Amino acid sequence: MKEKLEALKVEALAKLQEVTDPQVLNDLRVKYLGKKGELTEVLRGMGGLSAEERPVIGQVANLVRSAIEEIISTKQEVFQQQETLGRLQAEKVDVTLPGRSLPQGGIHPLNRVVQEIEDIFIGMGYKVAEGPEVETDYYNFEALNLPKDHPARDMQDSFYLTDDLLMRTQTSPVQVRTMQAMNGEVPVKIICPGKVYRRDDDDATHSFQFHQIEGLVIGSNIRMSDLKGTLNQFVKEMFGPSTGIRLRPSFFPFTEPSVEVDVSCFKCGGDGCRLCKQSGWLEILGAGMVHPNVLRMGGYDPEKYSGFAFGMGVERIAMLKYGIDDIRYFYTNDMGFVKQFKGI
Ligand code: DAH
Repeated sequence: MKEKLEALKVEALAKLQEVTDPQVLNDLRVKYLGKKGELTEVLRGMGGLSAEERPVIGQVANLVRSAIEEIISTKQEVFQQQETLGRLQAEKVDVTLPGRSLPQGGIHPLNRVVQEIEDIFIGMGYKVAEGPEVETDYYNFEALNLPKDHPARDMQDSFYLTDDLLMRTQTSPVQVRTMQAMNGEVPVKIICPGKVYRRDDDDATHSFQFHQIEGLVIGSNIRMSDLKGTLNQFVKEMFGPSTGIRLRPSFFPFTEPSVEVDVSCFKCGGDGCRLCKQSGWLEILGAGMVHPNVLRMGGYDPEKYSGFAFGMGVERIAMLKYGIDDIRYFYTNDMGFVKQFKGI
């Protein structure tokens, strides 16, 4: 019986040694160790052994079993490793392959300019305010020192919804709304970006709807030099450190004195080019010292407080900055146009 077991061991180990396939390995496991396997078969004959022989043979049988088990588990481990390795190979990602690029959105040039301007003024301590696009005649005109029969109302042909309601023609009404909300507190330091509406015929430089950014500062002893310094800093950050501003006298009902502000041409540096129509200057905004009537209507005593205000057209600034010659590009969603601003 001992010889039988030894022979079985030799045969089993030889066969198992050669196995290269997990399925065959499993078959052999069943063949030798299974319920009806050869080892089991031999052991079944142990009943006929004497009491002395039994433990001896039992020991041999156990050794044979563990030898077979050991080689099987070693093989299983090897196969498992091979399988894992094969899977890793098959699922290998070639990181050197160029990626498949997905179409990606970008920020619209108008929003980009608004964000840029907001960032500059936030950096100077301003807050961003908002106001309604459907506005009352009072806030859009009257509180800004434009009584009903004021000729300057003609400058801004309006879309009226009722006798008293209109689409705001400017972001300036937010000045008065902000002052009233501040309840006489100082300092007031806000900018307000937003849409405005005018009854204009659309062409390359006009649109019935466009965007403005309003600015308002109120405090004690705010002077024209504060306005000038602020706008000078603004254009340097917006158009480049070598740009500067010049102020020209102008008129707005809500400011006194009023100015129009030009930035030195950032394209030619002031020498004269097509962008600045050879003048060296580009008109970018209107501004002035807040009119005493407007301060009063906002709840501020003009004897105690003063302030400055400014307003600029976002489209105009974007057109100058990016060399865009037709305002309609902003609104027609031409992908060829919009995509150019993706990476800027
Ligand atoms: N609201 C004016 C416009 O739409 C722009 C403007 C000019 C705003 C002077 C101001 C200002 O705040 O002080 O033409």
